Amino acid sequence: MRHIVLIGMMGCGKTTCGKLLSARLGRPLLDTDRAIEQAEGCSISELFARRGEEYFRDRETGLVRALARREEGLILATGGGLPLREENRALLRASGVVFFLRRPPEVIFDAANLSDRPLAQQGREDFLRRYRAREPVYRAAAHEIVDNTGTPEEAAERILRRLEQYHI
Ligand code: S3P
Repeated sequence: MRHIVLIGMMGCGKTTCGKLLSARLGRPLLDTDRAIEQAEGCSISELFARRGEEYFRDRETGLVRALARREEGLILATGGGLPLREENRALLRASGVVFFLRRPPEVIFDAANLSDRPLAQQGREDFLRRYRAREPVYRAAAHEIVDNTGTPEEAAERILRRLEQYHI
């Protein structure tokens, strides 16, 4: 186990917390959405529109396979749908400590700017339904569940404390 992996619903604060952890631990942060955007040369929204969700999910799985082989311990901020594939979950769990960053979906929908998330464009009820379907998957994929209901700094502190029990 080398990587520190953040999973959770889109807009729950994975990237923000990941940046704080990266600064505290001196480990590089890799955001899977940004890595795919760079490799594809377009935004996630454009990729969904041009190639469809399955294509994007295949890119995610390809990236997770490559990351699982990386020797260096990274902080991984993952796309919200990435843990939905069983292969991705297994690879993440085998290559790092997986933290489910939990933030109530109502809070996310009302407070976060989700305009660049193609799967958050169907309104509040759809978003809440999607979250309810995903939450058991996030729980099953995670070694640790951490609340992000206060500030990102508090969530990062919680993660750092939980990390003390792992030898990574
Ligand atoms: C998605 C979440 C997004 C991005 C894509 C799909 C999802 O990432 O991968 O829009 O299915 O939840 P964030 O969790 O970083 O927003």
